[in-house]
Amino acid sequence: MNKPKIIAIVGSLRKESYNRQLAKEIKKIIGEHADFELLDYDDVPFMNQDIEYPAPEAVKRVREIIKASDGVWFFTPEYNHSFSGVMKNLLDWLSRPTGKGEPMLLSNKPAAISGITPGFAGTSTAQDHLVMLISFLNMRVMNNPRLVIPNAMQHLNEGQGDNLDLSNFTERMEKQADAFLKFIAK
Ligand code: FNR
Repeated sequence: MNKPKIIAIVGSLRKESYNRQLAKEIKKIIGEHADFELLDYDDVPFMNQDIEYPAPEAVKRVREIIKASDGVWFFTPEYNHSFSGVMKNLLDWLSRPTGKGEPMLLSNKPAAISGITPGFAGTSTAQDHLVMLISFLNMRVMNNPRLVIPNAMQHLNEGQGDNLDLSNFTERMEKQADAFLKFIAK
């Protein structure tokens, strides 16, 4: 395979999202080893079967991006011990066939999962819920390693609001990135 294309799906639409910052750190770590892009999906409407066909333009756009990717890396916050509603909504759209006889986009697509939260459990329950869903969608899930970062507030850059210093996690991020590149190539 040439340079793989990895799409990051961040389960938070918040501007200063810790999970978005984590995804950007991973992008830096992956560097030239892959095309790594964060998916912009805040224009995807709520799933409503009344508007499912023809698919809304935003849905068509994200489907094309996912279709062309070699792997998807989820960055999930934890909302009430699960992943977020916006991520579920996106996955519901992606789970639907784009037309008669078309394969489901996510089937067999390699998936990695990371997450960061101010809480002490570090998104592990949210990640487990996400694994249940994406396994049902027949994604090829890399369960080991996953990255779980608790206590986000302990890693804030002083005096810089929500800006994180993730340097304590560089080794674990590198390990997961390396493992995912190998997992995709399998
Ligand atoms: C939360 N948050 C949260 N945190 C946690 O560790 N366990 C939880 O169950 C919840 N539940 C929860 C529900 C809802 C509705 C919200 C909005 C928030 C806190 C949340 O994880 C925190 O705000 C993260 O910083 C969100 O991720 P981003 O936006 O920083 O990526």
